Amino acid sequence: MDKFVIMGGKKLIGEVEISGAKNAAVAIIPAALLVEGTCTIENIPRIKDVDVICDILTQLGAKIQFKDNKHTVVIDCTGLNSYTASFEAVQKMRASYYLIGALLGRFNHACVAMPGGCNFGVRPIDQHIKGFEALGAVVDTTSGIIKADAEKLVASHIYLDVVSVGATINTILASVRAEGVTVIENVAKEPHVVDFANFLNAMGAQIKGAGTDTIRVTGVKKLLGGTYSIIPDQIEAGTFMIAAAATQGDVLIKNIIPKHMESISAKLVEIGANVQEFDDSIRVFAGKKQLTKANVKTLPYPGFPTDLQPQIVALLSVAKGNSIITESVWDNRFQYVEELRRLGAVINVDGRVAMVEGVDKLVGATVKATDLRAGASMVIAALVANGVTEIYNLKYIDRGYEDFESKLQALGAQIVRKSDDGTGSVNGVAL
Ligand code: EPU
Repeated sequence: MDKFVIMGGKKLIGEVEISGAKNAAVAIIPAALLVEGTCTIENIPRIKDVDVICDILTQLGAKIQFKDNKHTVVIDCTGLNSYTASFEAVQKMRASYYLIGALLGRFNHACVAMPGGCNFGVRPIDQHIKGFEALGAVVDTTSGIIKADAEKLVASHIYLDVVSVGATINTILASVRAEGVTVIENVAKEPHVVDFANFLNAMGAQIKGAGTDTIRVTGVKKLLGGTYSIIPDQIEAGTFMIAAAATQGDVLIKNIIPKHMESISAKLVEIGANVQEFDDSIRVFAGKKQLTKANVKTLPYPGFPTDLQPQIVALLSVAKGNSIITESVWDNRFQYVEELRRLGAVINVDGRVAMVEGVDKLVGATVKATDLRAGASMVIAALVANGVTEIYNLKYIDRGYEDFESKLQALGAQIVRKSDDGTGSVNGVAL
């Protein structure tokens, strides 16, 4: 089993290039199922989730080819021959629920097994189903398989009861080729939702209002293909910003959209870091001030992202004073706290609220990633801890961070990936 071995205590210094957005890519790639033509998608992050969704599309009959630069993929779904995705195919990735909306939109039929729960609680899809049904589909969810069938899909007026990235995207997928104008209210406004809509528009769809509370989709008969470039990953960028602040370093985070980072920049300034914004990069560097407590409440965009909550908790665990973190998106996203405690963090959790008592130092230990962002939190904690930390369960981190350890090594971090019995060294230091 692979693990990261990290020798903590080094400030991160230098420049890092941010990859394309994972949560845009895992929506845009299945959206190509709607297109009868060739989609060329640039700035694809090379992460495990992308490999998994591409494999599923191939099984459905898509032709997929990565170009030499490895970050451009050409997808041709003209000859698609199936609307059934097996459990074996979809179990590895939660976002495979986008196959339902995409296949329904393409064939008026979808049969997709659903992966089980996930590491931060129940992840219902009732709002996705509400969208499909409003468009005229009959949805059956018995035996862990979602079957959605429609004679034809017809536009509707849909009000989502909760702000959901997945339900917003899935309802758009199913309505893009439906007859008439679909209005979806109370939608998610995340940058990757806007990017996904922009991709479909570039392929010939007519989607208006992405980034606001209401989206209008005018059905078109066919999508014909084109070229599109995915936006930079807001969460990867935020992870490096937090890591730079936590290690009291000086990092220029390049190839980003600073507007997407506003809630994170503001919070880091409140905590005592310096943040300097440029056109497409942000510099985070230590000031004279000591890092101090801050309260954080996660919210849908433009609020502070839940996908950066574990990382900011790692930072606050070494900031002076007591911080209160309220998780208002997911029911159960504090399991990783037990792992941070192994490193000496003092954190009490009561339901959706965590109280972090800043300590002077963390001390290296053996921990595991309990999910993707929890894994990033462990890495940040390990970078500031005294001594050596070993982090297991790298499969989670590999799902969503491209070349994580190489990017950190280039910033001076002493991090190496090792198999249990292997040896390794970085920057000349045996670990
Ligand atoms: N919800 C419902 N019913 C639904 C759908 C969602 O009650 O039908 C609830 C959820 O239980 C949750 C809230 O609505 O409490 C928000 O869930 P949302 O649907 O927005 O989450 P998601 O689409 O399943 C995406 C990201 C997550 C990220 C959330 C919130 C992808 C592939 N995943 O999930 O990202 O945490 O939005 O921003 O886009 C990650 O990248 O590590 C990750 C988990």
